[in-house]
Amino acid sequence: MTSNKNYDIKDPSLAEAGKQRIEWASREMPVVKLIGERFSREKPFTGIRISACLHITTETANLALALKEGGANIILCASNPLSTQDDAAAALVDYGIPTNAIKGEDEATYYKHINTALDSKPQLTVDDGADLVTTLHTKRSDLIKDVIGGTEETTTGVIRLRSMAKAGELKYPLIAVNDAQTKYLFDNRYGTGQSTVDGITRATNILWAGKKVVVCGYGWCGRGIALRAKGLGSKVIVTEVEPVCALEAAMDGFQVMPLMEAAKEGDIFITVAGDKHVIDEAHLRVMKDGAILANSGHFNVEINIPALESMAQSKRRIRPFVDEYTLNNERHLYLLGEGRLINLAAAEGHPASVMDMSFANQALCLEYIVKNRGKLEPKVYPVPEEIDKQVARLKLNSMGIEIDTLTPEQRQYLTSWQEGT
Ligand SMILES: NC(=O)c1ccc[n+]([C@@H]2O[C@H](COP(=O)([O-])OP(=O)(O)OC[C@H]3O[C@@H](n4cnc5c(N)ncnc54)[C@H](O)[C@@H]3O)[C@@H](O)[C@H]2O)c1
Repeated sequence: MTSNKNYDIKDPSLAEAGKQRIEWASREMPVVKLIGERFSREKPFTGIRISACLHITTETANLALALKEGGANIILCASNPLSTQDDAAAALVDYGIPTNAIKGEDEATYYKHINTALDSKPQLTVDDGADLVTTLHTKRSDLIKDVIGGTEETTTGVIRLRSMAKAGELKYPLIAVNDAQTKYLFDNRYGTGQSTVDGITRATNILWAGKKVVVCGYGWCGRGIALRAKGLGSKVIVTEVEPVCALEAAMDGFQVMPLMEAAKEGDIFITVAGDKHVIDEAHLRVMKDGAILANSGHFNVEINIPALESMAQSKRRIRPFVDEYTLNNERHLYLLGEGRLINLAAAEGHPASVMDMSFANQALCLEYIVKNRGKLEPKVYPVPEEIDKQVARLKLNSMGIEIDTLTPEQRQYLTSWQEGT
């Protein structure tokens, strides 16, 4: 091994196991597969350098392989210290895609890996949470001159990019993949819904039926989690700060109340608000003995972990991904996955079938940026509607579902205003 190698993984011997799981995921990713096959004929990324900061999973591997097929020189790093699948990382390196990601890496290693991905002087960036883009803008700004554009995968990243654009700090065009309908309606809702419940179940093996589950944030992810917990027989309480979202939760059949009240009742708390200290010290103080705390929002700031640490008399890891905090009055609180997104920390993240759509958007948006090189401004763009519709069409095709088309009469009716009662 040389010191200037551009990859860093846990164990190369996991490559075979990783390849099998990547192949398994590809069976549920027909849209990315189709796009990859076209890319391999058309080579839209010939010679283009891509640095991608994503959860290193089998689904991400399929996206990376499709981009490589299209001629890209792609390097990967993790977008979260706990979300890496070490076997997928090993397989990627074996496939000739330098990957920098080790499950459980510390913060210094996490940023070292981002910097290694940036060392390859990207022309396109792919980000999930905007840590790569902000590092590029703040610490590696000399590299920005080479960048044509980039994409952002998640809600929290898009919020950060919009803040950068508003402050006049954004230096190149980015497409908010998260905001495509074929992304958030499926990935955030059904993907996060199912995989969050999966992560908590794998970490704890709890029975959901009869439990009081408090979901903090009723956005796209919160809707999915609440729905799935309800389906398993939990009594779901939703907390919100936006009146419309709260109203929707109430009419969807959930109890809605301030977290200060819900804190006394809940057995399981799940934050998915994309906000800081949603569960704060005051809430922790009134929770029942045995309450379980999990986060599925992008960053580990949603639960005030420093407060929990300072309140605790002792702490022990009672099982993988479960830390037991014993508080002064002999109450125990259980924090899952160190407060990091639990679906990726303790389970496998979203099922491949939803990542198929998210990553089809990624692939097509990157192609769009290259095709429109020089024409886009340094701002946050939505996913072009045609791409969103194309992804939906391809997914429906792959599911063997056909739909109707407008008749000429209906097309005329829907674009006119003269006809009334
Ligand atoms: N775990 C995953 O795999 C995964 C997947 C997609 C998105 N995410 C992340 O999940 C988070 C939520 O994403 P989303 O798409 O649902 O966002 P969203 O904007 O649709 O929803 C967030 C909701 O939280 C509410 N909220 C904000 N602060 C709150 C507070 N203090 N208390 C209660 N509610 C509050 C907002 O009003 C909003 O309705 C983001 O951080 C996103 O990046 C995670």
